[in-house]
Amino acid sequence: VSHLRDVQIAILGATGDFGGALALRLAADTDHETVVGSRDPSRARDAVEDYRETLADAGADASISGAGNADAADGADVVIAAVQAYHLESTVETVADRLGDDAILVSPAVGLDAHEDGFGYRPPDVGSATALAAETAPDDVPVVGAFHSIAAGSLAAIDEPLEIDTLVVGDDADARGQIADLAEELSGLRALHAGPIANAAVVESLTPLQLTVMRHNDGLHDVGVKFQ
Ligand SMILES: NC(=O)c1ccc[n+]([C@@H]2O[C@H](COP(=O)([O-])OP(=O)(O)OC[C@H]3O[C@@H](n4cnc5c(N)ncnc54)[C@H](OP(=O)(O)O)[C@@H]3O)[C@@H](O)[C@H]2O)c1
Repeated sequence: VSHLRDVQIAILGATGDFGGALALRLAADTDHETVVGSRDPSRARDAVEDYRETLADAGADASISGAGNADAADGADVVIAAVQAYHLESTVETVADRLGDDAILVSPAVGLDAHEDGFGYRPPDVGSATALAAETAPDDVPVVGAFHSIAAGSLAAIDEPLEIDTLVVGDDADARGQIADLAEELSGLRALHAGPIANAAVVESLTPLQLTVMRHNDGLHDVGVKFQ
């Protein structure tokens, strides 16, 4: 991914709310090639038709295509697993042998526990979704946690700058730096180095807190986190 030129980005499960919104945002704000992944290639291609329409309406000249998750991951420099935390392990397993030598795997996943009065954090047994991705990925593939606290709605509003931060965790400093650089190509997004994967649970647990704050406080919708 060095120098962020011609980066190929695969988003697994990009037919969903978050992955779809991230695909739109990446396509609108960067020159990189975005591949929308799905378990079903035809669902990926249908989603791409929709996204292309949205991007064309916004006047964005975007490079975006669709494929099955494994084909999307093949040859990608950055593979973002935009699936629920409880589907992360099986999803990473289906692409594991297609990850290239220089690929970086990114987890934006957060395990949530919905209760009557809000949301709690429910990480996988290994401690965090990012740690689970790292355990599941081949040993030579660096794993980075990022984008957790960006609401899909803000990502999809491609005509508005995000004006928030994203906390980036990872044990491989180079991979973490490359994903931070990529994140900062999104309009108004600042990437903050938040340490190793051991910190991922704290970073991921901001999301249920945000969702609970949104639920209980009028006028707060799609809020993000900003450190200042
Ligand atoms: N929504 C947000 O605002 C937001 C914000 C920050 C982070 N996140 C994180 O982003 C991730 C995705 O969130 P989301 O709201 O986009 O989720 P989602 O819409 O429920 O699911 C995303 C995609 O996962 C795939 N999927 C469904 N069942 C699956 C299975 N059994 N195995 C593998 N893949 C399956 C589907 O794609 P196909 O059917 O096409 O394969 C689906 O479109 C979550 O981990 C979430 O914590 C979300």
